[in-house]
Amino acid sequence: MDVLDARLLAASAKPDGLPPPMFAEVAFAGRSNVGKSSLINMLARRHKLVRTSQTPGSTRVVQIFRLKLRGAEMDFVDLPGYGYASRSKAERKSWGPMIENFLSNRAGLRAVLVLVDARRGVEPDDEELLSFLDSIGIRGIVVLTKCDKLGANERRTMIARFTREGRTAIATSSSNATGRDELWKIILDAASITLPA
Ligand code: GTP
Ligand code: MG
Repeated sequence: MDVLDARLLAASAKPDGLPPPMFAEVAFAGRSNVGKSSLINMLARRHKLVRTSQTPGSTRVVQIFRLKLRGAEMDFVDLPGYGYASRSKAERKSWGPMIENFLSNRAGLRAVLVLVDARRGVEPDDEELLSFLDSIGIRGIVVLTKCDKLGANERRTMIARFTREGRTAIATSSSNATGRDELWKIILDAASITLPA
C-alpha cells in the first residue's frame, strides 16, 4: 500500500476548531501510550508524521492527517488518549464529553480503530468506548498494538482469549510493521474506498 503524501491538516483542542470533513475519516482511539501515533506513522510509512512519546498523554489535541493514496484521499484522526491517571481531574472529566461529542457529530467519520495493548487486552475503558460506538452506530474495530513484545506462546494465549470472548482483532506492531497490509484493507473497506487496480 503506497501512501504518496501524508501531512498534518489541522490540530485543535476543541472539535469545533477543526475544518469540516472533506474525505472519509477513520479515527484512532485508545488508552494513553497504547501506540496510536506510532500506528499512524507505521501505516503512512512516515517516521515523523505524528509525534510519539515516552510520556503517556502526549497527544492532547485532535489531529487530522490527510493521506494521498494512488487514486484516492482520506483522513486519519488521532484522538487524545484516555485513562491517563495523573492528568488533572478536570482534564480527565472533559475528555469523555469532548470525544463523545466529536464521535457523534463528525459527519465524515466511517470507523474508529480502538487500539488495545496486546499484553493487556480489552480493559473497562475500551469496553466503554466500544459500547458507546455501538450506540451511535459507528463501527469500532479492535486493533492489538505492540505485538512484537509478545513471545509466540503469549501471542497464542492472547488470540485464544480473544476468540473465547467472541472478538475479532487485528494484531499489529509499529516496530516491525506486522499487520500493515491487513489493517489497510480494513481501513479502505470501512472508508468505502476502492483503489484503481
Ligand atoms: P498518547 O498520544 O500519549 O495517547 O500515546 P499514543 O497512543 O499516541 O502512543 P505513542 O504512539 O506515542 O507510543 C507510546 C510509546 O509506545 C512510544 O514509546 C512508542 O515508541 C511505543 N510503541 C508504540 N507502538 C509500538 C509497537 O508496536 N512496538 C513497541 N515495541 N513499542 C511501541
Ligand atoms: Mg499520540
